[in-house]
Amino acid sequence: MPLMHPHPDVDHVLLTEQQIHDRLDELGAQIAADYADQPPILVGVLKGAVMVMADLARRIDLKVEMDWMAVSSYGSGTKSSGVVRILKDLGTDISGRDVLIVEDIIDSGLTLKWLLSNLRSRGPRSVEVCTLLRKPEAARVEIDVRYVGFEIPPEFVIGYGLDYAEAYRNLPYVGVLKRSVYEG
Ligand code: XMP
Ligand code: MG
Repeated sequence: MPLMHPHPDVDHVLLTEQQIHDRLDELGAQIAADYADQPPILVGVLKGAVMVMADLARRIDLKVEMDWMAVSSYGSGTKSSGVVRILKDLGTDISGRDVLIVEDIIDSGLTLKWLLSNLRSRGPRSVEVCTLLRKPEAARVEIDVRYVGFEIPPEFVIGYGLDYAEAYRNLPYVGVLKRSVYEG
């Protein structure tokens, strides 16, 4: 059930819990069909993709594996620094494997571009991307994203794994953060 009383720091709810789950139903079915002969290893990007990974993986009716990477491209602000650091690496050797990266959001695309080349250098059979959200800015970077949940406007969003200064990840919906919260 969508929350009827959004958090006071939320300007408006962009995607309700129901809308997210309905879309994940579709993506899960599509991924299960596409990977029927070659179950993928799902690589979730911490921490933002935790909710997407949990809800998406349960909708993929295949013998998938799950692993995690943590990378950092954002500080506590709202703009991509372009500098990516590995905070936690995979525990799995992905050579010869079919990898499906699970992301919360693609904004500038810089993080993902870096991640793709990093994972490709490890000799996987394939690497594809599933992101819940994509902002328009991402169109400027040439990356092929096979599964996109929602195209969203260029606003700073929180909830469903997405944070501002590490807060709001536990909101069950995606909302636009009030500008007053980060502009002071
Ligand atoms: P880039 O710009 O490299 O950024 O594609 C990807 C990462 O930036 C974070 N990000 C956001 N986080 N609300 C958030 O909570 C947003 O609106 C937002 N836009 C980008 C996110 O960590 C993502 O993985
Ligand atoms: Mg983040």
